[in-house]
Amino acid sequence: MLHSAVLNVMIKAARRAGRGLKRDLGEVEHLQVSLKGPRNFVTAADRRAEEILREELEKARPGYGFLGEEGGAHAGTDKSHRWIVDPLDGTTNFLHGIPHFAISIALERDGVVVAGLVYNPANDEMFIAERGKGAFLNDHRLRVAARRHLADAVVACGMPHYGRGGDLDLARREIAQAQQNFAGLRRYGAATLDLAWVAAGRLDAYWERDLSPWDLAAGLLLVREAGGYVSDMDGRDAILGKGQIVAGNEFMHRELLRLLKEAAKEPARP
Ligand code: IPD
Ligand code: CA
Ligand code: CA
Repeated sequence: MLHSAVLNVMIKAARRAGRGLKRDLGEVEHLQVSLKGPRNFVTAADRRAEEILREELEKARPGYGFLGEEGGAHAGTDKSHRWIVDPLDGTTNFLHGIPHFAISIALERDGVVVAGLVYNPANDEMFIAERGKGAFLNDHRLRVAARRHLADAVVACGMPHYGRGGDLDLARREIAQAQQNFAGLRRYGAATLDLAWVAAGRLDAYWERDLSPWDLAAGLLLVREAGGYVSDMDGRDAILGKGQIVAGNEFMHRELLRLLKEAAKEPARP
């Protein structure tokens, strides 16, 4: 399949950083038993991946701005274009040798995400999308699932846990709503892949709060270009600004929003 020049730049950068992460994943498995454990190694792997991505993207598009989770924001001479990058999404999975993590690259033009990529080097799954041109997994066109019965649906979410803050009680109420209405609930631990899997029709819907632009930018374009719906928790488009996402096909998106609103109305539990 022929890709646009900008997608080729993103794919090349992701594959190069991905080779390093795949090698490091093997090392992490050895470090599991070491006294120090793999935490420092993973942080170094995370940073190394971001350096590689930034080097490749800057070489191909000098002057574009860059926002990376590890290195922060770097303004470019070209004020219209900005890369938004998560070099390793699913760090806790990676830390435990769980092969469910991804590199996420998005290109923003004048504040609008126009290209997105989510790449899991462990299983070599490359999810790509360009605005108005569709979404693909390893060159196969993607469509969100068409399910229209909650009782058949498998949905994913993120949830606050030890050391991460967030409203635990609200999360419990939201999860209870999901348990009472859907066939299955999953917590996979990589927001970018949760969105890519909604775009691929593997998941029927997904919701999460307290996310950063690099967790969301590429994935929301994948869902939209696969015919899905994305919004913040109020059903509006302030997804990156609020760090909130609700995603699914038209029916599932609407129904999940309704259930989340019901959970929010329920009285807080001590
Ligand atoms: C995290 C993952 C996780 C989500 C967290 C993110 P990281 O990203 O996407 O699934 O629940 O909110 O911070 O730290 O592994 O890049
Ligand atoms: Ca990360
Ligand atoms: Ca992340």
